[in-house]
Amino acid sequence: MAETAVDRGDVQEQIVTPWDVVASEKGVDYGKLIEQFGSQRIGGALLDRIERVTGQKVHRFLRRNVFFSHRNLEQVLDNYEANKPFYLYTGRGPSSESMHLGHLIPFIFTKHLQDVFDVPLVVQMTDDEKYLWKDNLSLEEVHRLAFENAKDIIACGFDVNKTFIFSDLDYMAQVPQFYQNVLRVRKHVTYNQVKGIFGFSDSDSTGKIAFPAVQAVPSFSNTFPHIFGDRPDIFCLIPCAIDQDPYFRMTRDVAPKLGYLKPALVHSTFFPGLQGPKGKMSASDASSSIFLTDTPNDIKTKINKHAYSGGRDTEEEHRKIGGNTDVDVSYQYLTFFMDDDDKLAQIKKDYESGKLLTGQLKQILIEELQKLVGDHQSRRQAVTDDLVRQFMTPRKLNFDPSK
Ligand code: TYM
Repeated sequence: MAETAVDRGDVQEQIVTPWDVVASEKGVDYGKLIEQFGSQRIGGALLDRIERVTGQKVHRFLRRNVFFSHRNLEQVLDNYEANKPFYLYTGRGPSSESMHLGHLIPFIFTKHLQDVFDVPLVVQMTDDEKYLWKDNLSLEEVHRLAFENAKDIIACGFDVNKTFIFSDLDYMAQVPQFYQNVLRVRKHVTYNQVKGIFGFSDSDSTGKIAFPAVQAVPSFSNTFPHIFGDRPDIFCLIPCAIDQDPYFRMTRDVAPKLGYLKPALVHSTFFPGLQGPKGKMSASDASSSIFLTDTPNDIKTKINKHAYSGGRDTEEEHRKIGGNTDVDVSYQYLTFFMDDDDKLAQIKKDYESGKLLTGQLKQILIEELQKLVGDHQSRRQAVTDDLVRQFMTPRKLNFDPSK
């Protein structure tokens, strides 16, 4: 495998931004990232509390440390226990027609949180961000992609009475409070600050430098007057992968200056690319990713051909010393999607003891993903343009802002 900048010693620290992940051969060191970013680890005591407060077994993403880090999650639970409202905010940058499995992770978890806590959700489609960052995309195209990607998001099962999905390009023109809050943030964040947080250089466009405020403001409830009235004080929880944290470090810095609440966050690790744990699955490399548009045969071929294996060189050796689940991508993928803890534990045991061979492990994963992606495709097909427009119309949700 190629040497990375971290291995060469060119950079001292791993780099994780919304656009870049630079890690060592062993992959992202998430413990170190918590230190770098100053977030909190989700530990056993917090998991116990979530279980107590919700009265449900915690989601497999929490049980398995997929969502591993947070900011102010305790405060969300305090609010819930005190019957104080909060809302969820997450998003997608519509840069391609097809989302990959990694993109599903925050949406699966957000849907679970919406069900458990029965709260409103806003989903930002940053078509403006993708226009600014991608040379080959026109404004018309990113706007179209936002609408197409919204279908995949709706197919995750969100409740239309509790969910508002918006394209930045549309919403900016529809609701003045959005731009007003963007301006408030811009007035209080200096160029030096965004340079420090995002690593912008002097040759980056002013569009990029000004963009972070746009991703910040859905964290403030008065950005959505049709849902929350003019209340600025409804608490917000943001589920996302940890690459998005820089936006919200900035948001949390600026919030008190505007008299707004800092949003809470839950961060996930990256769903790895097929070739291994080095970074996150990439939408621009078809052989590293399983897409939500893949056919059963694509899935089978990609996994058999590209999924990095922790198995041994020969069957004999494998039977003798067993496989390594720490690096085996097929096993890693199962930890994200196989819900049954006992079944997963048995697979681990059998693979590590050499009883289960790489080909057999891959076959288990292929079947699991063919079902997952196939079911997603059926649900997506049932999403009509009318339904997307309904989700994307600014309107009241099932939420009483007077409480
Ligand atoms: P985007 O479109 O790059 O990614 C959408 C969501 O998927 C997460 N993600 C991943 N999660 C696990 N494994 C991966 N390999 C992986 N790749 C991406 C991202 O963290 C994100 O949560 N600027 C954002 C859109 C956005 C947003 C937000 C995201 C606007 N507001 C609020 C989260 C929360 C973007 O381009 O996401």
